[in-house]
Amino acid sequence: MFRSKIAGIGYYVPERIVTNDELSNVMETTDAWIQERTGIQERRYGKKHAETTTSMGAAAARIACERAGIRPDEVDFIVFATLSPDYYFPGCGVLLQRELGITGHEAGALDVRNQCSGFLYGLSIADQFVKTGMYKNVLVVGSEMHSMGLDFSTRGRNVTVIFGDGAGAAVIQRSEDPARGILTTKLHSNGTYAEKLAFINPGAHGGYHAAKVEEAVDYGYPPADTYGEIFITPKMIAEGLIYPNMEGQFVFKMAIQKFPEVIQEALKEVGLQTTDISMFIPHQANLRISQMVQRLLGLRDDQVWNNIQKYGNTTAASVPIALCEAWEAGKIKEGDLVCLAAFGSGFTWASALMRW
Ligand code: UT7
Repeated sequence: MFRSKIAGIGYYVPERIVTNDELSNVMETTDAWIQERTGIQERRYGKKHAETTTSMGAAAARIACERAGIRPDEVDFIVFATLSPDYYFPGCGVLLQRELGITGHEAGALDVRNQCSGFLYGLSIADQFVKTGMYKNVLVVGSEMHSMGLDFSTRGRNVTVIFGDGAGAAVIQRSEDPARGILTTKLHSNGTYAEKLAFINPGAHGGYHAAKVEEAVDYGYPPADTYGEIFITPKMIAEGLIYPNMEGQFVFKMAIQKFPEVIQEALKEVGLQTTDISMFIPHQANLRISQMVQRLLGLRDDQVWNNIQKYGNTTAASVPIALCEAWEAGKIKEGDLVCLAAFGSGFTWASALMRW
């Protein structure tokens, strides 16, 4: 068994900056509310009808490949994590493969639907493939074009103000030094609360997505005995049921419980402690969550990287963007113990420890 490592990392954020004040022009919100509750000052939105989840992912992936010293066509396997794919199907993995011109040897491409923890799930998958020797260069991408699917009316303000667009990517290769690289990854989920943070429509659920299936939700589908079901009904559009929904406080409480749990689990497995962590990169869900987790772990400010202030919550992209920024800023050096962790919709949550 080999150890795997991040051999190259890159990120891409769109040019367009959207401030809290700009959002307050289209919905009832304020810069003060957003900053106080989330820490977010601004976020980026992709160029409408020009940039996509795939194109942003490809931009990040090109940088990651270059830094890993490989051409994109040397990638053996692609893992693409997103909750805002270009198409319902096929997934962004194959679209990215086409965009990067990796079709020559028809490498496998896998789409991961694990929302905020998607990149960490992808990293863990890549780690398994590389350490067993099955693949040499696995490309893991997290990318989101949230701005194409948010409710910009006051009804959607609790969700919309949080999210931003962007992408991050990493190339995973075998580590030549057995002491360095990914030490462990921990993956968890609990579907009990699937609808607490969800983007339910369009879907093939037919209204039966509640915890108890007999309690179908009336989305205005045609009668059950007709053929030709439709995904989006006029009722869904009229009532704004085609956007993400979130029970924010419930999610918040679960997050601050699960982040420390999954980090301690990883540390315990490799016989290390929180005091050994050089840099903690939390998924950027809410600055208040990151600060609470930091306190619970007893970490100093210089041991944690937060950038939600600039980018909002970029879901599957947030961990690789933050990791890449911290590394580019010289805050991660050879031999450092880097801790990544994420929690989000599903619920799914995960952590990774690596010796850089
Ligand atoms: O990355 C995936 C995981 N996601 C998370 O971890 C998110 C976790 N949750 C959160 O970050 C927070 O719950 C939010 C930032 C989403 C919301 O903050 P909150 O302090 O939990 O607010 P709330 O939802 O309890 O709403 C408080 C009040 C409500 O008004 P009333 O009922 O008290 O009159 C909301 O209608 O704030 C109102 N509100 C807003 N006001 C101004 C909700 N959104 C906004 C807004 N601007 N954007």
